[in-house]
Amino acid sequence: MASQLIVRAVPPFRVPGGPAAAVGKLLDSARGLLDDVELARARGMEPLPRAAFLTGRVAQRRFAAELLDVPPSELTAAYDCPQCGPGVSHGRPGYTLGGAPAPVLLSLSRSAGWVLMAAVRDPAPGQRLGVDVQDPAGTDFDGFDEVALGPAERESLRGLAAAELVTGRARLWARKEAWLKLRGTGLRVAPDTVDVLDNPAIRDLPAAESGLPARFAAAVALSGLPDRD
Ligand SMILES: CC(C)(COP(=O)(O)OP(=O)(O)OC[C@H]1O[C@@H](n2cnc3c(N)ncnc32)[C@H](O)[C@@H]1OP(=O)(O)O)[C@@H](O)C(=O)NCCC(=O)NCCS
Repeated sequence: MASQLIVRAVPPFRVPGGPAAAVGKLLDSARGLLDDVELARARGMEPLPRAAFLTGRVAQRRFAAELLDVPPSELTAAYDCPQCGPGVSHGRPGYTLGGAPAPVLLSLSRSAGWVLMAAVRDPAPGQRLGVDVQDPAGTDFDGFDEVALGPAERESLRGLAAAELVTGRARLWARKEAWLKLRGTGLRVAPDTVDVLDNPAIRDLPAAESGLPARFAAAVALSGLPDRD
């Protein structure tokens, strides 16, 4: 059976009292659920990014546990950083289950309080996954095109202005980050060198599929071709 992509969006976690109160509540649910290395990373963050980080990590662990049909507490975070290697709390996400790699590919992205997750249960050997969500407001600045886009991508935006332009930029940026997560490099690769217009492994995720509000751009990259550049 072909591996099936599953996508889920989680809305911002908001409670009366703002980010500080949210962090308190999130820490309550994270303790006993997240691993020490994840909680330690959260402790080093300011309240707003900490709330976003905890929301994503708790959601991702529950998502993975549901797909694997195990309690969330049975999973151990097993991230892999292109620079630091495995056994860290950052980089490409993953879990172990009973000491072995859990049979699920995962990718996660956060934007404006939302969390977007993608997963493939029982992936094929060598299969890779990346997902990204982008708030168009984040691409609305001078110089974006020069830093982020290649010549063909810049050409594809020619003639667009105002809202259409930032939406077009956000679409391309989401596709780039999805691809760079699939590759595992992240932005260690210069984004303007990565052409995402004609890459068949990448596709846009419409709001009806992602569950995100329509203003967001989102993309997924899914490949069984680990050697592709
Ligand atoms: C991957 C990257 C582009 C995402 O950036 P972003 O837009 O700020 O963040 P998003 O919300 O979309 O995604 C964050 C998630 O991407 C995933 N991620 C991070 N690095 C990743 C990588 N190398 N490969 C695949 N996924 C990765 C993680 O799940 C992370 O979630 P976390 O915060 O819970 O750990 C960016 O983090 C990056 O370029 N990382 C690599 C840089 C690097 O190697 N640094 C060395 C660190 S020592």
